[in-house]
Amino acid sequence: MAHRRTGHNLEAQTLKKQLLTLGAESAIYKVEYWGRTLALKWRPIKPYLHNEIDKLLRTSRTSRECKMLTFVRTLGVPTPAVYSVDISNHLILMDFIEGQQFKQLASVSSKKRITTLCREFGKLLGTMHMSDVVHGDPTTSNAVVDTQSKMWLVDFGLAEKNATIEMKGVDMHLLRRAYETTHWDLQETMLESTMDGYIDISGDNAEPVLTRANKIRERGRYH
Ligand SMILES: Nc1ncnc2c1ncn2[C@@H]1O[C@H](COP(=O)(O)OP(=O)(O)OP(=O)(O)O)[C@@H](O)[C@H]1O
Ligand SMILES: [Mg+2]
Repeated sequence: MAHRRTGHNLEAQTLKKQLLTLGAESAIYKVEYWGRTLALKWRPIKPYLHNEIDKLLRTSRTSRECKMLTFVRTLGVPTPAVYSVDISNHLILMDFIEGQQFKQLASVSSKKRITTLCREFGKLLGTMHMSDVVHGDPTTSNAVVDTQSKMWLVDFGLAEKNATIEMKGVDMHLLRRAYETTHWDLQETMLESTMDGYIDISGDNAEPVLTRANKIRERGRYH
């Protein structure tokens, strides 16, 4: 039975691992561990940052991500189960979701499929917001669609609890920006169906958030 081992040293060097993605913030490895396929997320040193600040950021994001991945799953938002965290080495071991980034799927799928996926994305964000949780980086690369077409959310290092209308507005603004910059030709369809899903879940609570998102856009911040 899988279980969490807080503080357990994962000894990344000794694992049989395959590098999946190497981003600005982290490296994701596909690993074989305890007889299953898991994902190992590692936040490496950023040599251009002050050493102490870098360590503090990597520690707090690793800890936050671990807590929030687990917390939002209790709300019904699919996230990879966390099995182990090694705070001092900035490592998280979690379920590997076999599938494709929503970002990549959106560029090859039919309009109908994209609409369905966007509605789901909006529903997941709505579910989080209804419990006063923001994702912090709601882009299409942070959603993975598995082989059964189920959508999973990842990358919770910037997620927060006790979110205000402003914080939820920022989340929705960031989502819109992501559509504008990454899915320029489909942005209107994608935004519309995401909003449908979001409003479906949020009901009357959606209006103040979306109004705030528009104000944030007018203010021209968070670009
Ligand atoms: N548990 C997982 N299962 C399958 N794929 C995953 C998993 N976690 C992350 N990924 C994939 O790896 C990518 C990068 O992971 P993540 O978003 O958590 O890190 P990141 O710090 O945002 O990286 P970047 O610097 O590229 O933004 C995701 O977009 C997703 O495609
Ligand atoms: Mg990411």
